[in-house]
Amino acid sequence: MYGMIHQALRDMALREITEAEWSDLLRRGGHARPVCIGLEYYSDETTMALMDLVARRLDLPVEEFLQAFGRLWIDFAGASAYGRILDMAGDDFVSFLQSLDRMHSSIRSNMPRADMPSFEVVAADARAIRLRYRSSREGLAPFVQGILAAAAERFDEKVTIRHAPEDGAVRFDILRAGPDD
Ligand code: HEM
Repeated sequence: MYGMIHQALRDMALREITEAEWSDLLRRGGHARPVCIGLEYYSDETTMALMDLVARRLDLPVEEFLQAFGRLWIDFAGASAYGRILDMAGDDFVSFLQSLDRMHSSIRSNMPRADMPSFEVVAADARAIRLRYRSSREGLAPFVQGILAAAAERFDEKVTIRHAPEDGAVRFDILRAGPDD
């Protein structure tokens, strides 16, 4: 994945570890240089190895780590050059979710090698949203869960999120709390 992801991982890791330890993780993760460049493309093996190393170093089970990383990702992306794209993506939570593919395709013009995920809002009403997530990669559903939880907060929504594999994709059921809940 693009180095921007690695830069976000660095932000997360540096809450707990020193720069020297981070450089060591990069070296162990197969980075040729001790820096991650946002617009450089790294193989998925390199990205996944780095995620794994950071999760272990922070002493978090992978699923818990990915959720926390997803939460951080929203803040990281929001503070990046793409913050405006994030701000413009929808006036409410459902339209935000409906615009995810458009958002990623506009980012792709800067990052042509990106292999972006795809999201489809299958159903939505006041109580629940059903979202389908497709990816060429395995195991990132907890990352999505963390992003969705943080995104819901941006729209002042209280949600409970569950996910399960379905037809080669992952189905997310997002239960929305009403004003009386
Ligand atoms: C401005 C905000 C965002 C930016 C700049 C951004 C950018 C990116 C980039 C560069 C990648 C890596 C793709 C690659 O290198 O092959 C990626 C992957 C991903 N993005 Fe976003 N993204 C943003 C917001 C979101 C949001 C709101 C979601 C909501 C769920 C999301 C879900 C994902 C997921 C799950 C992946 C992992 C790849 C996969 O599933 O196969 N992103 N994004």
